[in-house]
Amino acid sequence: MATAAVLLLLLVGVADALDTIAGGSCHAADDMQEVAAAAAAAAAAAAAAAAANDPWQELVSWLTHHGAQVNVAVHNTGSTAGRLLLASQDTQQGDLLASIPLDMAFSQVAHGGNASMEVAAAALWAMMSDPANPMQPYFASLPKRHELLCPLVQLPQEYLPLLQSEYVAATVQVVQGRISSFWDSHKSVLQQQIPGMTLEDLKYARSLMVTRFIGFPNQGRFMIPLIDLANHQQDCPHRLSVGPCPSSSSSSSSSIRQCALWRAGAALSEGEEVCFFYKSMFNDKSMLQYGFLQSGAIADQLHGLDRHDFKSNPGMSEAQSQLPPPFKGVSSNMLF
Ligand SMILES: *[C@@H]1O[C@H](CO)[C@@H](O)[C@H](O)[C@H]1NC(C)=O
Repeated sequence: MATAAVLLLLLVGVADALDTIAGGSCHAADDMQEVAAAAAAAAAAAAAAAAANDPWQELVSWLTHHGAQVNVAVHNTGSTAGRLLLASQDTQQGDLLASIPLDMAFSQVAHGGNASMEVAAAALWAMMSDPANPMQPYFASLPKRHELLCPLVQLPQEYLPLLQSEYVAATVQVVQGRISSFWDSHKSVLQQQIPGMTLEDLKYARSLMVTRFIGFPNQGRFMIPLIDLANHQQDCPHRLSVGPCPSSSSSSSSSIRQCALWRAGAALSEGEEVCFFYKSMFNDKSMLQYGFLQSGAIADQLHGLDRHDFKSNPGMSEAQSQLPPPFKGVSSNMLF
């Protein structure tokens, strides 16, 4: 039967992705041995950071000892505004804020088998659940589930009428429906591979991806350590691209390590907050996807849903390259 065949294909897809994880971990473990010397040198710093119970300093040590360059500092504002990034020195336009090797990031293609978001979320949770996974210093820097707001994935169905929009309610139901039907179909395979896994674990991993995935043309989406601690700003001038890591030796072009290169689009003073441009979005979208309202000029604009040029975008997956012009009408223009 067609449905059985589709299900089988899906299960094979899940198994492949989970194999990819196992393979990825082993390969990364080999890399870890090669850099054992550097790791030993880092041990003192890491231990000090761990003693201070500060996973973000440990994250920076882990990154820099494996080839990243970091010219920003993590600042923890406490429970009010969480973590943010500050310039660690005076910075000129064009200077490198950070370069993070892409092999230190979670990759939808490499780890998730370039399959669905749900397969990627299962793969992410499998890696997070493995204490031996070399990406643990990154996972320790992620928000805990009670700290993570992602209404698109987490909003309880009984609250949907509060959205006061059939369109948004339907969007939430599509996204949440994909997650729960994936879970219903693959629960037993997943629980065999990842003992104790629950639907809540899958939703948590999916929320981490919804709030953190950054896409690059032809490379798929990544969760990039450190850079995902920067706060969004609609007019943020700093930009991220992919290219050879600045420190990489160029013995053969095929082996050049690729990095996420984050450059300042404007001068920054030491201690100034370093923003990040997630994507163009009005406040209704930022609230639904990330759980925050934006400040600045965008806060004075109508929500996307209230605009005459609103285009329905089921799944909320498309990023607009720029926002449409502000609505400038006044009440005296109205016909009634
Ligand atoms: C991932 O899959 C999409 C289609 O589903 C394809 O267009 C893309 O090239 C794939 N990416 C990689 C890096 O394999």
